[in-house]
Amino acid sequence: MTNVTAGLQVRVASKTVEAIDICSFELVEAHGKPLPSFSAGSHIDVNVAEGLTRQYSLCNDPAESHRYQIAVLRDPATRGGSAGMHDRIQVGDLVTISGPKNHFPLAHEARRSLLLAGGIGVTPILCMAERLAVTGADFEMHYCTRSRDRTAFHDRIAGSRYAPRVQFHFDDGPQAQKFDIAGRLAQPEAGTHLYVCGPKGFIDAVLSTARAAGWPEPQLHYEFFSADVGPSASDESFEVQIASSGRIVVVPKDQTVVQALAAAGIEVQTSCEQGVCGTCITRVLEGEPDHKDLYFTPQEQAANDQFTPCCSRSKSKRLVLDL
Ligand code: FES
Repeated sequence: MTNVTAGLQVRVASKTVEAIDICSFELVEAHGKPLPSFSAGSHIDVNVAEGLTRQYSLCNDPAESHRYQIAVLRDPATRGGSAGMHDRIQVGDLVTISGPKNHFPLAHEARRSLLLAGGIGVTPILCMAERLAVTGADFEMHYCTRSRDRTAFHDRIAGSRYAPRVQFHFDDGPQAQKFDIAGRLAQPEAGTHLYVCGPKGFIDAVLSTARAAGWPEPQLHYEFFSADVGPSASDESFEVQIASSGRIVVVPKDQTVVQALAAAGIEVQTSCEQGVCGTCITRVLEGEPDHKDLYFTPQEQAANDQFTPCCSRSKSKRLVLDL
């Protein structure tokens, strides 16, 4: 089920330790050809190992076509993707990736951009900052990390011409330099678009603060890296009905909808299998999904007309799917 669509073969041209537990990888086309173009906020799917695909944001200049750069945090809490990148992928290796996809684009109508990065969430934010700097756009960036030695790309940012627009915030630093989310987001700002990427707790804190302060939803942009969407003891069996054929497939409590459909010979394209990428989105014609994704906005979830069958389940006995 997990696959890299429209696979591209790339070679690892360099692998660099950027900070504690963070490596960057420079990927070039296997035969030296130009790579597909991308925009700030884009990611690629990387086939880390057989049956294991992960999404990584591109963090080089979108004007470059000779390489993609990604950075990976070694995360012992994940299902092996980051460890695979750190331990198995070496310089000279050939790797299959997807073309760039962008679920986190810059809003062209923004008068000002407020970029908030937590930890490894800096990757798309860095690309955005560099793009905004090139175009002369107005922006402000805050980069929060546990400590200076866990701050990937510190010197690249501090040595850039947009450095005056960036503030670093270290958890182990003096209180006065810590990022005051509530203070900074206290007032919605007309024309300012907020972009946040990082650990779930950081994104949740930023979004809940912004929403409580009245920031309009269209001005809030976010991208999660991973979700905690494993099976839960409260998961129940339910049915899905395929609208085109009327066929009914039972989803046992220990399988996802995607798994149950695959067992019935019905393929749904997936990528992250964690409810963060949106690849598997399927329209729901009847029934009430139990949303477990981090992809949709609260309003989109409340509409109950689509869901992510890689992880979401059902509150009703049956879901009718537009398949
Ligand atoms: Fe990524 Fe379902 S496969 S959201």
